[in-house]
Amino acid sequence: MDKLLISGGGPLFGEIRISGAKNSALPIMAATLLADGPVMISNVPHLHDITTMFELLGCLGVSVVLNEKMQVEVDATTLHSHVAPYDLVKTMRASILVLGPMLTKFGVANVSFPGGCAIGSRPVDLHLRGLEMMGAEIDIDGGYINARCNGRLKGAHILMDTVSVGATENLMMAAALADGQTIIENAAREPEVVDLANCINALGGRVTGMGTTTLTIDGVDTLHRGSYRIMPDRIETGTYLAAAAATRGCVKLKDTDPHILEAVLIKLEEAGAKISVGKDWIALDMEGRRPKSVNFKTAPYPAFPTDMQAQLTTVNAVADGVGTITETIFENRLVQTHELNRMGAKITLEGNTAIVTGVERLKAAPVMASDLRASASLVIAGLVADGETIVDRIYHIDRGYECIEEKLQQLGANIRRIPGR
Ligand code: UD1
Repeated sequence: MDKLLISGGGPLFGEIRISGAKNSALPIMAATLLADGPVMISNVPHLHDITTMFELLGCLGVSVVLNEKMQVEVDATTLHSHVAPYDLVKTMRASILVLGPMLTKFGVANVSFPGGCAIGSRPVDLHLRGLEMMGAEIDIDGGYINARCNGRLKGAHILMDTVSVGATENLMMAAALADGQTIIENAAREPEVVDLANCINALGGRVTGMGTTTLTIDGVDTLHRGSYRIMPDRIETGTYLAAAAATRGCVKLKDTDPHILEAVLIKLEEAGAKISVGKDWIALDMEGRRPKSVNFKTAPYPAFPTDMQAQLTTVNAVADGVGTITETIFENRLVQTHELNRMGAKITLEGNTAIVTGVERLKAAPVMASDLRASASLVIAGLVADGETIVDRIYHIDRGYECIEEKLQQLGANIRRIPGR
């Protein structure tokens, strides 16, 4: 297994480009199943999770062709299987996103039941209940969700008990080809949900209300061929900003969008960062100062994203003062704090709240990544630690950060990959 070796100390300084959003690319690739012709997707990030989605589409019989500009042409007209197998789903829970589109387009879908994961139990009850309200018959057998419908799915009025990004996306895709109108209330408002809705509309769908808590989808008979450009990755953006804040650095991130991470920018400003923004760039300058502690609580968009919690926890770990962080989305998402404490951080946990007393510097140690964003927080910790930190199990990082060591090197970090055997 590959590891990252980081010699901490210096501030990050320089400019990098932000990649396309993983959490937008995954549902959009699933949405190509809805179209009656090829869909060309651009700004697709080069990541393990994306490769897993290519493999999944490939094993359904879908043709996926990648060109040198990282544009992907997906043609689902060659689909010949309706089975999303356990081997792929177990490596990426987002595989569940093929359920809605496959069912609404082909009338049948057999998708391995995704299990829990390091950050929590992550059920899919909202996905299944919504599809049943649209007329699907679903049974669980042999670890598979077997869904079918007689004729087309039917538009329904669905009130979600919890705000779920994945369930909103799955049901929106299912509703795009359903008979009649579907209204999803208490829908997720995340920018990636909006990106998916815009993509469906670019293919001839009729989704309105995206970015609000009520989505209205008027089902159409077919979606056509087309092309779509994936939005920038707000979590990758926030991660590099957090790394710059923790290291007292000064960075400019290009090809991003300052409007989709306001809650994070507000916290970074509270931490003492000078932030300036343009249409497609964000610059952060700590002016050499140590960050100040911040308090925050994760919640659905537009509030502070759970996917940025671990990275800001590391900023707090080296900040001046005491910061309190409450994680409300996933039950087990503060586990990285134990690894940070091994590097000299002072973090105590009280239920789903971390109380972080900032220390001047962290100390290098071998640490182990437990999930994608936790890994990023350990890399940031390595950048501010004295000595050489080795971050193990970085396959988690490769799932969601394109060329992380190259980008950090470009910002002056002393980081390299040690290939595993
Ligand atoms: C997506 C993101 C992930 C992010 C998360 C929350 C992708 C590929 N992943 O994950 O990076 O951390 O949103 O912003 O976009 N829940 C239920 N029942 C369900 C579905 C969800 O109870 O059927 C609960 C979950 O356990 C969790 C909460 O709802 O507590 C939010 O989860 P959800 O928004 O569905 O996360 P994902 O879509 O899996």
